[in-house]
Amino acid sequence: MKNLINSQDLTKIELEKLFVLSDKMNKRQKKYDDSLKGFVIATLFYEPSTRTRLSFESAIQKLGAGLISTENAKESGSAKKGETLEDTIKIIQGYADMIILRHFDNDSSDRALKVASVPIINAGAGNGEHPPQGLLDIYTIRQYKKEINNTSIAIIGDLKNGRTVHSLIKLLCLYENITFYGFSVKGLELPKNYIEYIESHNAKYFICKDFSEIPSDVNFIYQTRIQTERLENKNFSIEDIILNKERFSRFSENTYIMHPLPRTNEISTDLDDDKRSIYFKQAHNGIPTKMALIYSIIKDFYKNKKHF
Ligand code: NCD
Repeated sequence: MKNLINSQDLTKIELEKLFVLSDKMNKRQKKYDDSLKGFVIATLFYEPSTRTRLSFESAIQKLGAGLISTENAKESGSAKKGETLEDTIKIIQGYADMIILRHFDNDSSDRALKVASVPIINAGAGNGEHPPQGLLDIYTIRQYKKEINNTSIAIIGDLKNGRTVHSLIKLLCLYENITFYGFSVKGLELPKNYIEYIESHNAKYFICKDFSEIPSDVNFIYQTRIQTERLENKNFSIEDIILNKERFSRFSENTYIMHPLPRTNEISTDLDDDKRSIYFKQAHNGIPTKMALIYSIIKDFYKNKKHF
């Protein structure tokens, strides 16, 4: 694997290898400390980010690589002066051995890849995809359910613009007998192409109009925020999709609540102390999975060069 642009680029074997390596990174095996010393990695972010950028930057430093970073490239970088993404990539690749890109255009990472001479990781592209989040989400599923096959998951909220949901769907579809229950805010339904993707991979998609239509023994509830920054009409009511203690009370002892975060009000804070609320632990899985991802890509890309 030499880049990560779209989730469907990952095979099941690559994904499984990344999980095994993530487990090792989680245990902080000495071997990986400073394993990327001498490499420099750039984070180039045109959209706001806390978790994704900081977890990538922490992972980079834990591996001993150097970091160069722009946190608001849209406003403070050369884009403000009219530079194209392609030109910016051509410049940064002279400074860094890998570029981690977040951008507001869905095809940004594909465009970057076309001109890049260093590996590119898509860390969020418009309302399209966010593969590193999908990776950490499935790693979390694997931690709590052991087996990824036979997983049922309710995806809730903004299924139209939530790029983390899109990547999660594609990665889960690599496994057997996956069932999705989609409960969206009206007008923010899962786009048809994703429903077709699910069905063409022998997984199932059921549309739910209410919390009560989600089976009480579903394995995971994956809640998402309305992506207001991408919406012209911001007047969507989230009342119906808010998950609180009362609505969660009918779910099983083995139903876990996930969220890519940040949340607005769609998960009530009264659920934070419930042991089935795993969204903060999920966010922390960003470190080992990103360490594994960066290490694997650098190793593969530079295998005949530098110190590999
Ligand atoms: C998500 C994103 O940026 O798509 N955040 C993240 O990376 N964890 C989800 C969101 O912003 O709603």
